[in-house]
Amino acid sequence: MNNQGIMARYREYLPVTDKTPELSLQEGNTPLLRGDQLSEEYELDVYFKVEGFNPTGSFKDRGMVVAIAKAAEEGSQAVMCASTGNTSASAAAYAARLGLRCVVVVPDQNIALGKLSQALVYGAEVLAVRGNFDQALEIVRNLTERYPFTLVNSVNPYRIEGQKTAAFEVCDQLGTAPDILAIPVGNAGNITAYWKGFVEYHQAGKSDRLPKMVGFEAEGAAAIVRGERVKEPETVATAIRIGNPASWDSAVKAAEESQGRIDSVTDEEILEAYLEIARREGIFAEPASAASWAGVKKMRKQGLIPAGSRVVCVLTGNGLKDPGTAIDAAAAEPKVLDCDESVILEAIMGAEEV
Ligand code: F0G
Repeated sequence: MNNQGIMARYREYLPVTDKTPELSLQEGNTPLLRGDQLSEEYELDVYFKVEGFNPTGSFKDRGMVVAIAKAAEEGSQAVMCASTGNTSASAAAYAARLGLRCVVVVPDQNIALGKLSQALVYGAEVLAVRGNFDQALEIVRNLTERYPFTLVNSVNPYRIEGQKTAAFEVCDQLGTAPDILAIPVGNAGNITAYWKGFVEYHQAGKSDRLPKMVGFEAEGAAAIVRGERVKEPETVATAIRIGNPASWDSAVKAAEESQGRIDSVTDEEILEAYLEIARREGIFAEPASAASWAGVKKMRKQGLIPAGSRVVCVLTGNGLKDPGTAIDAAAAEPKVLDCDESVILEAIMGAEEV
């Protein structure tokens, strides 16, 4: 049954009816990879839930497939969202598949190139505004209340329903929930969705425990940690450059009920974790995704995670989405050489050895 999308695989847990259109780009069923080197180094049992394997390269596809199918079921002709990039790419793809009009509002200059190119190629109407995500979301919320566009941001409950299937998969892949589930926090929909999924699966007898939920904001956008809205959020992790998370309360609730926490990580910590995941484990995730591993490292150093804990870090998006940050962070440039065997030999062996 692996070649199905999440609506078919987890139908009994989702608000799918006989009238819901069949919709899938084969989202979900993403790898849970063990980080062998990092587990050994940090004395943990670390796994990465690699959501970049989804059809548009991020976890958004799980929620978007349900939101768009339900919009079509309810007779909607058009969908709309504000986005730091991934939501817009995902909405554009699923809307295209059902022939719906799709309007996305993104912060001009603060969206990664891969995400922008996706929305454009899938045929969405892309409006890049001189403002940030929070301002765009407020406008989109107002407009979708007054005009016949369906809002497909994560304040749409169908998004949360779809995204909770990632927690189901983690339990299915491990046989139960992990000790700790670490996740980046931006608009705070995904931490809300995972917690809902873990609780439902536990209640259904599919896992014998609940994880501690630990969520990490970028320090320059850490509204929940600071306890107040950040008017001008700033971080290298543009996906989570959000200063007024829409699901703030439910994120706090997830952390409290699970005896976890919401903390923040600096851009430096994010980029260090980003390179470490790539260079030690061979997984290329986008910068925002690395906030989960950065946060786990921070808590481990602080003595807040006992040795041997089983930790799942959610890697929310594919590294290819943001080539600009990738090339800057790698701090390495290709050597440009003459196409000549001896020149190449010299480059790899050093001049003396040749
Ligand atoms: N990681 C990535 C790669 C994201 O794109 C997002 C959110 C998050 C983490 C945070 O998830 O908002 O549920 O707490 N991206 C949204 C977007 C805001 O518009 O693509 P969250």
